[in-house]
Amino acid sequence: MQAQAFAPRLIAWQALNGRHDLPWQVNDPYRVWLSEIMLQQTQVSSVLEYYPRFVTRFPDVQQLAAAPQEEVLALWSGLGYYSRARNLHRAARMVVDAFGGRFPETREALETLPGVGRSTAAAIAAFAFNARETILDGNVKRVLTRVFGVEGWPGERNVEKALWTLAESLLPEDAASMPAYTQALMDLGATCCTRVRPACTRCPFAADCVAHQQARTAELPAARPK
Ligand code: ADE
Repeated sequence: MQAQAFAPRLIAWQALNGRHDLPWQVNDPYRVWLSEIMLQQTQVSSVLEYYPRFVTRFPDVQQLAAAPQEEVLALWSGLGYYSRARNLHRAARMVVDAFGGRFPETREALETLPGVGRSTAAAIAAFAFNARETILDGNVKRVLTRVFGVEGWPGERNVEKALWTLAESLLPEDAASMPAYTQALMDLGATCCTRVRPACTRCPFAADCVAHQQARTAELPAARPK
């Protein structure tokens, strides 16, 4: 699989098979950030129940920053991982106090917000600002280890480093494609290249996928060594 063929084929797949109706598919960095924090350890179906209520009560970062912590936690109640809600509130106050109410636009600056790691920062930068930054969450690691036959446990430093380098080499040339491309990577991992029984017959990379061609989708990504 040639690196430059990856993005166009993935984006073509996304146009026909990806998710296009998610309420956070907007170019407002506040809404993108909020959705990415909610989606960190929570399925899309659950976030769809909480996200609309949250943005109705807190339509912008100023209103979130000004709210009492108890009210933020009450609206989060049921989503779990409450440190996310406390970090969210701290990050909102930081955007207002340290960034003058405007979201930072680079991956590096976004990473200074509490609760925003490298992959989440890349997702926000790509969705909201067309930044050529790659995400690399568990789903994307699974797609890449399978398609490109990356050996070794992805939790291992050198394997993870190789995956970041690979992921960066696959980015589309055209920055305007970054939102569709980023959503496509997430969607392929979530709906097609699933951990168990992947739907390889529906995958745009089946003909080139090392794991599929070698009948090793159950072995890639490699499990943590015992
Ligand atoms: N998981 C993390 N971010 C997501 C997004 N923007 N859309 C769907 N699933 C996601």
